[in-house]
Parts: sequence; structure tokens; C-alpha cells
Amino acid sequence: MKYPYQINSMEEYHEAYKNSAEKPDEFWGEVAENFLWRKKWDKVLEWNFKEPKVEWFKGAKLNITENCIDRHLETMADKPAIIWEPNNPEERTRIVTYSRLHKRVCQVAQMLLNNGVKKGDRVCIYMGMVPELAYAVLGCARIGAIHSVIFGGFSAQSIADRLEDAKAEFIITCDGAFRGGKDIPLKSIIDDALIGNKTVKKVIVYTRTRRPVSMLKGRDLWWEDEMDYALSQIEKNNVVTMPATEMDAEDPLFILYTSGSTGKPKGVVHTVGGYMVWTTYSFVNVFQYQPGQVHFCTADIGWITGHSYIVYGPLAAGATSVMFEGIPTWPDAGRFWDIVDKYKVNILYTAPTAIRSLMSYGLDPLKGNDLSSLKVLGTVGEPINEEAWHWYDEKIGKKNCPIVDTWWQTETGGVLISNLAGVTPSKPSWATLPLPGIQPVLVDERGKEVTERDENGLLKGNLCIKAPWPGILRTTYGDHERCRKNYFATYENLYFTGDGVLKDVNGNYRITGRVDDVLNVSGHRIGTAEIENAINMHASVVESAVVGFPHEIKGQGVYAFVITDKKHSEDELSKQDILETVSRIIGPIAKPDKIQFVNGLPKTRSGKIMRRILRKIAEGETENLGDTTTLLDPGIVDEIKNNKV
Ligand code: PRX
Repeated sequence: MKYPYQINSMEEYHEAYKNSAEKPDEFWGEVAENFLWRKKWDKVLEWNFKEPKVEWFKGAKLNITENCIDRHLETMADKPAIIWEPNNPEERTRIVTYSRLHKRVCQVAQMLLNNGVKKGDRVCIYMGMVPELAYAVLGCARIGAIHSVIFGGFSAQSIADRLEDAKAEFIITCDGAFRGGKDIPLKSIIDDALIGNKTVKKVIVYTRTRRPVSMLKGRDLWWEDEMDYALSQIEKNNVVTMPATEMDAEDPLFILYTSGSTGKPKGVVHTVGGYMVWTTYSFVNVFQYQPGQVHFCTADIGWITGHSYIVYGPLAAGATSVMFEGIPTWPDAGRFWDIVDKYKVNILYTAPTAIRSLMSYGLDPLKGNDLSSLKVLGTVGEPINEEAWHWYDEKIGKKNCPIVDTWWQTETGGVLISNLAGVTPSKPSWATLPLPGIQPVLVDERGKEVTERDENGLLKGNLCIKAPWPGILRTTYGDHERCRKNYFATYENLYFTGDGVLKDVNGNYRITGRVDDVLNVSGHRIGTAEIENAINMHASVVESAVVGFPHEIKGQGVYAFVITDKKHSEDELSKQDILETVSRIIGPIAKPDKIQFVNGLPKTRSGKIMRRILRKIAEGETENLGDTTTLLDPGIVDEIKNNKV
């Protein structure tokens, strides 16, 4: 299979870019011809950013799983769709061919129907990285149920909030999940999340770790029993038939919760048609995927990267996608390299935080592994520092593999700014050029387009996008106004990304980080307000303020300034109590790296916390803290500074 929309040269890139901007309908209509539609669209694109309303391929009918699976069966039934590497390298690998994937996804779809799941129902998926997670996601898509995958590092409370927001009626989970040396008790966390829940009717439990779990009569079901029964219904003479539900291009495909600058995560909604086209188009072009290649994206399917570049994009392109259950440093820091060697991985896509962490182990873990299969390397999730970029280039790619620095967001569905591997040039620490269909604009605080370059010839501003691409979010679940306010109201008629950016004279973009109150810790997005809310739940906390600070491995660390009621001592143990509280409320991923007890916070006379000052202190700045004269109590700044942890 060849991809007619694959860009093969710089000239083709410029041509595609120009066409996508001047004639978007024609351009995307042509790309979309390469997919399987039951009925073609009436109109390619209709939009305004005011409401916002974005509709791609309106009137078209399809099912995304027929694109990801069925259409490959004729020529690629025995080709691996998913190669699964278990947490424990001693355990058996699982190779899931396209025909096996078809069978399993049909089984899940039938199992869901048997349990009363209908098109449009929300199914929450809380599983470890097992192939069954991919089956669950695709099984939902096959019958038009809306999946909401929740990352295994979120707490019961976070799950409860998401279940309530999505009004989910069904859950698919595991007894437990293996991650490194840990066995995470997923089902028991789900049980806690369900205390007081009124909407969930059924919980389906896949057995992974075989740890004891509580199974409630009438609510909890074993995956294995349900799947066996479903198979008996859909398989006749070794042939599996389970028709896919016909969906409108603009029907929702999934909800994925992500943090913003307010305390409550938002349910980003992606729809079937546009998301499919965008993830596949970007997958094929950014990584320059060639048929037969093995693609290894190290993300968890609990995040957008896993949705788009482990499951949907690669499978719709008929690729082989590696899915890894474990972590890069267990049982040792050579795990990624073992996997690359074992499966002859051609494309490795990971996060800068993982690269920095692996760098710190030196070169020993690389010994004995043949990495010569690698053709393309990728990074995602946060800015990559030059040192990590060069290490990746030299030690992993042996200076033979283009590195794609892919900038995008949960809301964008797929990559928006990146070089195209080996086709457009890379530049260390720069995401470089926008993909066809992406029209970035740099604006200042007031929304005026930035046109003046600094002494280095750079434009500096807030990154916005002028027009929709097929993968843009359509709404935030249950609250369209929130979507408008968050993304489309800051600057008129623009989608605001929340990121700061630099642009050089050649049109390359460098993302400098968030300009809102969102932190990026190990490539994971967490709102400072969310963490503050969690800290404030602790019984003796009066108030807190959270900021980020540069962290060697994580990119950004979490620094919390905390005021307590002084009823108890402010010692190491009380810090542990606060960490435990945050773990309970959000999950272990949000735990502050540093906690400093303070007697007050720098506030303006109107009561606003001056985060700028706290940020500087957390960064280790002692001198230039800026103007502190407008503070209610300027003395507090010295006190905080002198007691920095
Ligand atoms: O700040 C940007 C950063 O990650 C944010 C999006 O986070 P999330 O929705 O969790 O999605 C992460 C995976 C797509 C962005 O607003 N970010 C993502 N990729 C890059 C990046 N920052 C710099 N360079 C990147 N390549």
C-alpha cells in the first residue's frame, strides 16, 4: 500500500501547504478519498470560531474501525497490527494480527451490546497497557459508544469526577496493572470511585494480575466470560461477523480529560471523521511511515499520544504498532533498546523526559543492543533541550535518523507543527514547520499579530491557529461554552493554544512552554489550580500556591508554597501527609516535588497572588524579583526567599 497523500520532498511540502491554505475543501476532500466511507460527505468543511462550530465531512457516513481494521483484512490479515511487549521481559510476547484484532474488537463490540451499551453511551476505560485496552477502545468505536480512557495514574477521586462529568454508565477495567515493580490495584481504585456513583450500571473486569478483587453481583462481570459468550454469538465456521455501526462523520468518537488553568479537567471531544483523517495523515507524513515498518510509540493509551499514534493513526494506515506495558527503567534502563532490537523497530516516538532519564544512566544500558533498524526518531509532550536532542541523535539514531519534534495537544488530535522525517529539515529544540492545513499566528497579550523581530531576528508571541484542521476538538463534553471560553474567546476568531512560541526568519517555530497556569511535568499536563485545590483539601492547610520550576529530568517540577493553621508541626511527616492527600485527590502524578511552609503569600492589595514572584523564587532567583511595592506585605517575599527548599 502506498499513501497518495504522502509528501516526498520539500517542494511537495510547499505545494501541499499552499493548496491546503488556499483550497482547503479540495485539499482535504482529496486526502479523505483514501479512506473507507459508507457515504461521502455533502460538504468538506463548515466552520466559525465564534460559537465555535467546526464540521468536517458533514453528511458522510463511516465507521472508524472499518478503516482501522476491516479494510486491511483482504491483503494484510496475517500482518501484525499490534505487537505487545509485557512489563516482565520473561513473559510471552503477544503478536496481534489484523485478523485477530478484527475478531477481538468484534467480540468486545458484541459484549458491549450484550450488556446494554448503545451508540452515544459513554464507556470509561481504566486499564493497564494490555492489548485488551486497544480492543476495548476499538470495540466502543465499532458500536459508536464514546470511550473515555483514564490514565492508570489517576486516583479514585479523579475517576469519580470524570465518571460524573461524562455520566458514564459502563466501565472496562482490569483487576490490576503491572508497571515496573508495581502491581496497581485498578479494580479496587474503581470500587472506591464508585462509592456514591449513581450512573454506572456495569463494570467489566479483565484479568491481568490475578489479584483478589471484589465482584459485586449484578454490576461486576468478568471480561473472559463475557467475551466467550460474545464469540459464541458472532463466530460461525471460524468466520467472525459483527457489523460496525454506521456513524456520522461528526458523531463523537471519544472524550479525553485534560487539565486547563481552572481547577476542573475538561472533557475534550473528538469526532469520528476528522480525527481519523488527521491522525492518519499526520502519522504517515510526520514519521514518513513506509508499509511494513514497525512503529513504537512509548506513550500510554491513557493520553492523547497513545490514542492517536498507538491506536488510531497507525492502524488506519495499516501499520504495525508496538504497545509496551512497562516502564523504560525496569528491570533496567535498557528496556527501550531491548524492545527496539527485539522487534526491529523502525520508528521510535517518545518524550523528552524519558530521553533525559535514560541519558542519566550513561551508555551501559545500550550495550549489546542492535539499534540499526531505527529509521526515524520522534519526541512529543514538552520542549526538548539541546543536550537531550543531541544525545538522542548521536547515541540512539547514530546520526542516521531524522528526529521529528512534534508539537501538538490533546485538543489538536494530532501533530500540528513538526518537521517531516527526512523530508523537511530538523533543527534541535525547534518543532520547525506547520503541517499542511495549519496556519499559526503569533499574537501579543492584546491579540495583535506580532510582526516585529527581536535582535536575533525572532518573532515572539502567543501561539494561535487561524483556521480549523480536521483533528481540532469540537467541544468540551457537556459544556460548549467552556470550550468557547477556553480556546476561542481569548483572541477573536483564533484558536488559542496556551503556548508561547518563537518564529525564526525561515518560518520555523520553537515552542517555549505554557503561558497559562498549566504545568508540564514529565510531558503530562497539570493545572496549578488543580494541585492547589488538592493541597487545600488537607485538614491543616489554610492556603497554597503552586508554580513550576525547571527540573532536570521532568522538564518542570511542582513547587508548592503552603500556609498551615500551625496546629501541628511543619515537618517532613506533615509534608508526606500533604503528598498523600494530593495522591488521593488527583493521583501520584500530581505530587509536588517541593513543599515549602510559609507564613504568608505575596499578594496584591486586591488579594491576588503574585505568582510571578513565586515562580522566580522557585527557579532560584534571589535578586531580580521585580516590583514588590504593590504587595500587601512586601516583607513576606524575603521570608519566603530565605527559607527556600
Ligand atoms: O505545552 C505544549 C506541550 O504539551 C502541551 C499539550 O499537552 P497535552 O495536551 O497533554 O498533549 C501532549 C502530547 C501531545 C502543549 O500545549 N508540548 C507538546 N508537544 C510539545 C510541547 N512543547 C514543546 N514541544 C513539543 N514538541
